[in-house]
Amino acid sequence: MSKQKYLKDLKGRSLLKDTDLSKEEFLALVDLAGLLRQEKWTDTEKKQLKGRNIALIFEKTSTRTRSAFEVGAHDQGAHVTYMGPDETQLGHKESVKDTARVLGRMFDGIEFRGFAHADVEKLAEFAGVPVWNGLTDEWHPTQLLADVMTILDHSTKPIEQVALCYVGDARNNTANSILVVGALLGMDIRIGAPGALQPSAEVQGIARQLAEHSKARITITESPSEAVDGADFVYTDVWLSMGEPKAAWGERIEQLLPYQVNAGLLASSGNPDVKFLHCLPALHNTETEVGAELAATYGVSALEVTTEVFESSASIVFDQAENRVHTIKALMVATLGS
Ligand code: CP
Ligand code: NVA
Repeated sequence: MSKQKYLKDLKGRSLLKDTDLSKEEFLALVDLAGLLRQEKWTDTEKKQLKGRNIALIFEKTSTRTRSAFEVGAHDQGAHVTYMGPDETQLGHKESVKDTARVLGRMFDGIEFRGFAHADVEKLAEFAGVPVWNGLTDEWHPTQLLADVMTILDHSTKPIEQVALCYVGDARNNTANSILVVGALLGMDIRIGAPGALQPSAEVQGIARQLAEHSKARITITESPSEAVDGADFVYTDVWLSMGEPKAAWGERIEQLLPYQVNAGLLASSGNPDVKFLHCLPALHNTETEVGAELAATYGVSALEVTTEVFESSASIVFDQAENRVHTIKALMVATLGS
């Protein structure tokens, strides 16, 4: 089937978790993002979302995801309505099911960032319009579209030959999405995390099942150096995700310091061209409130990545952040466009 056919099949669909997409659909979206990026850069963009109204519901804060949906929608001629944390009746005075039925009457598409994954599923079930998961406690599917686009931008290998290593808190949304996408696309996917912070049996099961078909190689290990050995890309995320209690910081830092992406860990990839990825925001110095507080309380000046790595030529995190807009735009165009 042609890429156009895969894109056509996405019309009217929601994206709630990465595995809602087939490998071909996933790569067709990344491909479309490349075309839309080219159009944007050459000022030849055709507006495929003219007259569409898009709701952006954020129960958690955001910089990149919100911006990507807003800029992507505006570029394509759509109008957005942003509803930030505590700005709707959702969950307090109105159920997800009722909210879904109201918003579905007013909007053509809905982005939702929240806590329980069941909420985004309910929204999609009752809204009757495409719903896009902008992050839940379990999955972060729009992030992975940008990540794969960035990997392909910075790699000469086909995706199936790329070795992608994630180190850190491997039970969070980003890590779950990385593992299943690596498995879906047939990559060499490695996870380095302490036993207590490795992906759940359920997520590992999904990945292993996908790997049977895709021939993905999956390594899940407590050894950070084994995980990164031979990696093309090393990825990490915050050690404490939105919604987790601040009281957990002390234990998390103790568990995860050996998995910090620093020059030493990157060097143990043995790959002089290894690249560093992070979904951002990153706690790599004490210039943020949280960074300063953690430095004062626990004596750590960098958490999941050092400034040395973050600012190094190996770091492609800002390309990755920019690709959020191109990929989210592609998702909206494919599912909602004319
Ligand atoms: N990576 C990501 O989702 O960033 P935001 O939380 O800023 O949206
Ligand atoms: N795991 C992080 C991702 C932020 C984009 C969180 O949920 O806070």
